[in-house]
Amino acid sequence: MRRIDPAAAPPDFDGAFVQSLEDLFKWRRDVRRFKTDSVSPALIDELVAIAALAPSVGNSQPWRFVSVETPARREAVIANFAACNAAALQCYEGERAALYAKLKLAGLQEAPVHLAAFCDHATLAGAGLGRKTMPETLDYSVVAAIHTFWLAARARGLGLGWVSILDPAALAETLGAPPDWKLVAYLCVGLPQEEHQDPELERQQWQPHISEHERLLRV
Ligand SMILES: Cc1cc2nc3c(=O)[nH]c(=O)nc-3n(C[C@H](O)[C@H](O)[C@H](O)COP(=O)(O)O)c2cc1C
Repeated sequence: MRRIDPAAAPPDFDGAFVQSLEDLFKWRRDVRRFKTDSVSPALIDELVAIAALAPSVGNSQPWRFVSVETPARREAVIANFAACNAAALQCYEGERAALYAKLKLAGLQEAPVHLAAFCDHATLAGAGLGRKTMPETLDYSVVAAIHTFWLAARARGLGLGWVSILDPAALAETLGAPPDWKLVAYLCVGLPQEEHQDPELERQQWQPHISEHERLLRV
């Protein structure tokens, strides 16, 4: 990432850039099928630095990324997912259950990079600005950073898969996370095996796009 220069003139985001940016949004996918090719640690460092450009309540920057590299820890995460996914399957019946059982909902085995994203609830940064009435905005700030990471990764040809089918308390113990850190996401990162413009859960008939009338109300 280029150094931030507070004195720099703002760039001209021309039409071609706007079109490319829209393509990036359209081609960002949640990826569960990864090639096993390694990803350079320097690239992950760069993506975390870009993620840290995200907005945060009171400029609190509460994101804490943990790169999970120890095989034993990864195995524990995979076992955590397997147990939670099996329990989730029990919540469905009939055709829904059959469809759920067929879905691939994590690429934990193949992904070369595992990143846990936590929110530091003990941070003093930001001095509480903006979160007196909505303390959850601290967590939202981490989500903003994850989305920034996601898009920046995709622009560099990497795929990201967000895994939430996990027991957060067990995961925090596996990773030795401080008690004030709340798990926001567990991310698989690597080169994708395939590229799509439509979400996998749409292709698998799990959930179509909602209508445009549902997503914007004018009052
Ligand atoms: C908060 C959050 C949690 C998610 N957890 C999972 C998950 O555990 N497993 C999974 O396969 N996808 C997970 N996803 C990805 C969604 O399934 C995916 O974003 C959605 O189906 C739309 O697909 P797209 O991201 O390719 O547009 C998660 C996404 C978000 C934002």
